[in-house]
Amino acid sequence: MNPETLKNTAHEIMSPGKGILAADESTGTIAKRLASIDVESTEANRQAYRNLLFTTDGVENYISGVILFEETLFQSADDGTPFAKVLADKGVVPGIKVDKGAKPLALASDEKITEGLDGLRERLAEYAKAGARFAKWRGVIDITDEQPSDYCIDTNAHALARYAALCQEADIVPIVEPEVLMDGEHDIATCERVTGRVLKKVFEALDGQNVLLEGMLLKPNMVIAGKKSQKQASVDEVADATLRCLRRHVPAAVPGIVFLSGGQSDELATAHLNAMNQRGEQPWGLSFSYGRALQAPALAAWQGKPENVEVAQKAYHKRAKNNGAAAQGSYSSDMESAA
Ligand code: 13P
Repeated sequence: MNPETLKNTAHEIMSPGKGILAADESTGTIAKRLASIDVESTEANRQAYRNLLFTTDGVENYISGVILFEETLFQSADDGTPFAKVLADKGVVPGIKVDKGAKPLALASDEKITEGLDGLRERLAEYAKAGARFAKWRGVIDITDEQPSDYCIDTNAHALARYAALCQEADIVPIVEPEVLMDGEHDIATCERVTGRVLKKVFEALDGQNVLLEGMLLKPNMVIAGKKSQKQASVDEVADATLRCLRRHVPAAVPGIVFLSGGQSDELATAHLNAMNQRGEQPWGLSFSYGRALQAPALAAWQGKPENVEVAQKAYHKRAKNNGAAAQGSYSSDMESAA
């Protein structure tokens, strides 16, 4: 492990006013996204869609890193340049999702554990050769009346730490993503309690497995009411609860926190990040690592048609620009109506 390499990569990703595009949808997830616009999920269509995103002019002013799925890391742009090189040439750090997805947790009722540790050391070496400098692993925690169990939190925290240690050994910055889902009926206070329990266990596991906090990034959910909750919290309530929870549980040595959007609308995800950054200096940088909240308008505009590529790229550019502003607390909703 080279601590300086890890710290430098983490700082490069956390450049002021920039964040991450999560374009690492697995084959199953991208099929769902493409189905939403009636496009078949063939390898050619997946390449065409990623080509649209990665060749959008000017987004490198707001996007410092892109998380790729394994298939995409080994694909090339329309002009034959490997995608990882297309990104690196623009000063964007290529990253790779390395987990193999969330599977049923044995002897638990309806909870999940993320798999993919076996052979990970060897895969990381291949990904590094292909240009990946950071990685992502997502653990999934669901809130119901009885869940999450300590068993689910502990096993996911342990796996996240094992993954993070293997990444750092390969000089790849691990993004540690324990996602508390926003699918339930729970209120914001429940989300805050559960997110706090999860972060506490994750940082205990990272410490127990010698992970260098200065050489990793955290990708948490925001503290937010469940989608089906009757009581949706205001933007200010989300910002205050999220910051309180993070300040209690995330060591100041961590250089950056890059939120997932988790099913929030694109504009709300931007407003929440902006509100947090308007509350002044925090121990860590606060930015975005959005999938849906950066891509949704572009996907809808594209519809799988070459003649729509330009308008789709404009839609993606706008979300990248507005989130770049939110990462500095200088976003305003007027920017949504700007051309
Ligand atoms: P969303 O922003 O769509 O939640 O995706 C981010 C991500 O990478 C989830 O693992």
